[in-house]
Amino acid sequence: MAVPRQVFGLMGGLLIATSQPNSASVSCNVRSQLPLRGSSGFKPDSLFNALQRVRTSEVLRIADASPACEPNESLTSPIFTPAFRADFENLLRWRRDVRHFLTGPVDPALIENLLRQAMLAPSVGFSQPWRWVLVDDPIRRQAIAENFEQTNAEALARYHDAQADAYARLKLAGLREAPIHIAVFADTTASTGSGLGRQTMPGTLVWSAVMAIHTLWLAAASEGLGLGWVSILDPAQAHATLEAPAEWTFLAYLCLGWPAEPSPDPLLERTGWERRLPSDPLILRR
Ligand SMILES: Cc1cc2nc3c(=O)[nH]c(=O)nc-3n(C[C@H](O)[C@H](O)[C@H](O)COP(=O)(O)O)c2cc1C
Repeated sequence: MAVPRQVFGLMGGLLIATSQPNSASVSCNVRSQLPLRGSSGFKPDSLFNALQRVRTSEVLRIADASPACEPNESLTSPIFTPAFRADFENLLRWRRDVRHFLTGPVDPALIENLLRQAMLAPSVGFSQPWRWVLVDDPIRRQAIAENFEQTNAEALARYHDAQADAYARLKLAGLREAPIHIAVFADTTASTGSGLGRQTMPGTLVWSAVMAIHTLWLAAASEGLGLGWVSILDPAQAHATLEAPAEWTFLAYLCLGWPAEPSPDPLLERTGWERRLPSDPLILRR
């Protein structure tokens, strides 16, 4: 069994090893083999050696000390395996901003489920300020597409020469093809959370809603569904088109659908517009 070394830093109670689904019985097994209990006189190497003898698939969790061999029914948090972590990194690598969609439909139940997952995102003071508008009305969709085309033409006019040519070649929204359109707002007047955490940094409310967008992005990618974020819009006009409450701030217009072609690299990288930065210079130490 591979025992992650980092478990040693967590020792303070009972170390539980488990091979689901019968975690309780395995925790007894581990406990009986541990050379030491609790933190006093704790020797990481002897614990490590003991754990090497435990015939379980993973060492997973530290729990508070409890009477020996008593099943702990409250331990229900999930187990994230190395395989899951590898999959998760793949999800991060393969999540793309998608502008090329197949036009096939997406089950509304899937979208509902993705939104439910997105709303598990963290939010300042647990304010949950995200508001989602599913845009089905073809007239409003048409207005949003026209908004994009106008705004994009204005953006293009700010570039010159070769960069203008490169910009003009980019496809920067899949509004006409994507079957699902979702506008995302933050309710900046939300009383949820009673202002906790945002008194000196009110922007945290909007950032919280953005966290939910990213969560939605990942959840969609995990289903093989593409999401494209369209920000090349006149926000006031989009707000009016969608007749959203005045106290909401327009954050994003999202296109969702089945991607025409998955890729591990951003489109802007593939087209030579921008490159991924090396990470080292972006991390400072003080
Ligand atoms: C806040 C935000 C706004 C964005 N707006 C647009 C947009 O209007 N049009 C577009 O094509 N991509 C847009 N993108 C997608 C980025 O271009 C994309 O994330 C970036 O090129 C990296 O590619 P990747 O998401 O596939 O890794 C936006 C992304 C973010 C986070």
